[in-house]
Amino acid sequence: MNKPDLNIAKNREEVKINYGNLDLDIKPVFKGKKYFLRTYGCQMNVHDSEEIKYYLEQLGFKYCDKLEDADIVVLNTCAIRENAKDKVFGYLGRCKHLKKAKKDLIICLCGCLMQQPSEIEEIAKNHKYVDIVVGTHNLRELPELITKCLGQQEIEVYSNSDQVWENVKYSRDSKISAWINIQLGCDKFCTYCIVPYTRGRERSRHIEEILKEVQELKKQGYMEITLLGQNVNAYGKDLNLGYDFATLLEETAKIGIPRVRFVTSHPWNFTDKMIDVIAKYPNIMPYVHLPIQSGSDVILKKMNRRYTVEEYKKLFDTIKEKVQNVSITTDIIVGFPNETEEDFQKTLDIVNYCKFDGAFTFIFSPRVGTAAALMEDKTSLEEKEERLQKLNKLVNEYSLESNKKYVDKVVKVLVTGSSDKGIDKVCGYTETMKLVNIIGSHDLIGKIVDVKITEAKSFSLDGEVVK
Ligand code: 5AD
Ligand code: SF4
Repeated sequence: MNKPDLNIAKNREEVKINYGNLDLDIKPVFKGKKYFLRTYGCQMNVHDSEEIKYYLEQLGFKYCDKLEDADIVVLNTCAIRENAKDKVFGYLGRCKHLKKAKKDLIICLCGCLMQQPSEIEEIAKNHKYVDIVVGTHNLRELPELITKCLGQQEIEVYSNSDQVWENVKYSRDSKISAWINIQLGCDKFCTYCIVPYTRGRERSRHIEEILKEVQELKKQGYMEITLLGQNVNAYGKDLNLGYDFATLLEETAKIGIPRVRFVTSHPWNFTDKMIDVIAKYPNIMPYVHLPIQSGSDVILKKMNRRYTVEEYKKLFDTIKEKVQNVSITTDIIVGFPNETEEDFQKTLDIVNYCKFDGAFTFIFSPRVGTAAALMEDKTSLEEKEERLQKLNKLVNEYSLESNKKYVDKVVKVLVTGSSDKGIDKVCGYTETMKLVNIIGSHDLIGKIVDVKITEAKSFSLDGEVVK
């Protein structure tokens, strides 16, 4: 197997990041064997799993949907909150049990949790039945590690990376909608967040490589692409080559894929130029995920979020004003260390002000190695849970309210698959990212159809195709 060449810098010496073209020669030595893959966490992990799937399939493994049938099991882990970690270790227990009966089973762990020294130690000490541990920075070594696996534990993790690989191959989950990494890592160091430690420094891919990937996906007939980064507004800053996220978004839109999305935006440095581009191109979807995290300036400062509530409101209002029918969702953390009742009330106030289309809400979870994990915290878990409940109630009221506005309207829906609401139904998304269950046949999958909305729920809409 060819080792990735870590030093192909290709006229890019001016930036300290290494760019390389991945060229792996993977032999199908596991023909006839089966793989089981489980993914935890965010879209970044979901997309990494598409890379993992590619490697497993090149090695000859075929997908199976039952753990018990697998010859190799890969858990792509998440470290964002303690419960994500608990889920991984819970599932690992099942794998251990299976391995007792199936001695040749290969157990492999990768993803963010495996970038944490304390977790690696735990695996090395108390989970010796795990065969392979590979980190986020060197996922490309997975095929080689699997090929060489001799039943002895192999741990290959790098603590950071200045590397960006091009020519990465994926076995994509969907033929309709595709993820594209535009940037890796994060440099923001929000004090609660483990991501800068697990995903490394912020590294942007070059615009021409991203656009090449978009072109290729268009040729393959993709209807939608989502540009992926921890903080897409920072795209290009590390390159210093005179282009930014607005440029990338505009150039992407011009290629003409019917739907272009992007995630995640940071409220800091969300430029007017970006808003203008979103407003200008009909194929850039009017949907922005804009995490606020807290409605209290004191807490935002302690979180190192780099904006005030007033600044957030101003940005929110500008996006609403300039982008027609835009929907905006957010992330909110309750119970950040020493969040007072007054701070929490301010979070409710901003929710009342913004009336978000949707919000992901979390109780603060201290992550080892982050600044916030060391902050004094006198608020009890009970109090935090009460706050979360109150917040969820409010947030759900507003998502229902925003969904109700769709009733009796005709909207464009990209049908992405069958619906779990009945065999006579399919589901898809509006331009504003609302999930719609539609009565209709599977022929609709992959098409953009006009749908009349008949009913609104808190988390989805029901509709009928307009003939
Ligand atoms: N505790 C709780 N929520 C967190 N998030 C990130 N880190 C933590 C943490 N330590 C939330 C933030 C982020 C989302 C992806 O997860 O709201 O936007
Ligand atoms: Fe974490 Fe903040 Fe980076 Fe988002 S911007 S990944 S919350 S450090």
